Amino acid sequence: MSEYIIGTEGLTKRYRDKIAVSDLDLQISRGEVFGFLGPNGAGKTTTILMLLGLTEPTHGTASVCGFNPTTQPLEVKRRVGYLPENPGFYEDLTARENLGYIARLNRIGEDRIDDLLQRGLDQVGLANDANRPVREFSRGMKQRLGIAEVLVKEPEVIILDEPTLGIDPDGVTRLLDLITDLQRERGLTVLLCSHLLHQVQRVCQRIGIIVRSRMIVQGSPDELGKAILKEHQWNFLVEVGGDHPMEEALSALPGVDQCEARDAGWFIRCTRDVRPELMTLIRDRGLDLLQLRAEDPTLEEIYLKYFREA
Ligand SMILES: Nc1ncnc2c1ncn2[C@@H]1O[C@H](COP(=O)(O)OP(=O)(O)OP(=O)(O)O)[C@@H](O)[C@H]1O
Ligand SMILES: [Mg+2]
Repeated sequence: MSEYIIGTEGLTKRYRDKIAVSDLDLQISRGEVFGFLGPNGAGKTTTILMLLGLTEPTHGTASVCGFNPTTQPLEVKRRVGYLPENPGFYEDLTARENLGYIARLNRIGEDRIDDLLQRGLDQVGLANDANRPVREFSRGMKQRLGIAEVLVKEPEVIILDEPTLGIDPDGVTRLLDLITDLQRERGLTVLLCSHLLHQVQRVCQRIGIIVRSRMIVQGSPDELGKAILKEHQWNFLVEVGGDHPMEEALSALPGVDQCEARDAGWFIRCTRDVRPELMTLIRDRGLDLLQLRAEDPTLEEIYLKYFREA
């Protein structure tokens, strides 16, 4: 487990009659941006709380930066920056004052504080608003201030719980770019928690999908694609010459799950490779095959499939 900066084995959390996280094996390498994806109530926040030592696992173990969060929570908190779902600030203090407070709380030396705060404010694009009280901040600005607070600790790992919630598209793009920069410039490891696949997909090297307390798949976006192909999911785009209704015949082919008109042809989703039967069908009808193209499922399709199955 120790080769990973974050690792868990059989991590489980039960609340009375409710299992929130079940038998979780998570491996995150140093310097990686890992997307932790799952619908509401899947167990993402509970997992994070266990990684930070803020709640105790019922079974299993976790290791973060080489420490056990349950028995060595201070060691973990010193190295991990955490942005909770709803970060709180001192609303009457300015952004800079809030950051200064956090820096002193984390025992950053006075001689370094000014530089560190300025760097954090610059990095999240709040330099021009640094001296405004936080109560005047928009949601997106507060979220960025939350990230600056996380950075002021100079962490090895940052854990962001739904950081894009309630932020406009431009703000989301800036935040995701910031995550990429942090990884590149500081070699930070990032655990990014979200239920929005298309956001996570852009910045993560690996993704884990958790549904109803269980991690159902983890790997690079490519590996997830291959996993689903292994389960015999084939998509084809078919186009024939002339104006021939084909939908019924295509849907009737054994193994075709779904058939819909797309562009000048049909898009069929199948549980097996139906190309031989398809060719026979087209030849028997005396039609010209203009196009037959296999399409890889998109990550979006994979995600929805796993969500539906769970
Ligand atoms: N303190 C608690 N006591 C009892 N049940 C809890 C507690 N905290 C969480 N749960 C339950 O555990 C499950 C997982 O919750 P969790 O907050 O980890 O989900 P999540 O993936 O973060 O969801 P969301 O996307 O909505 O933030 C849910 O069913 C929730 O009701
Ligand atoms: Mg949550």
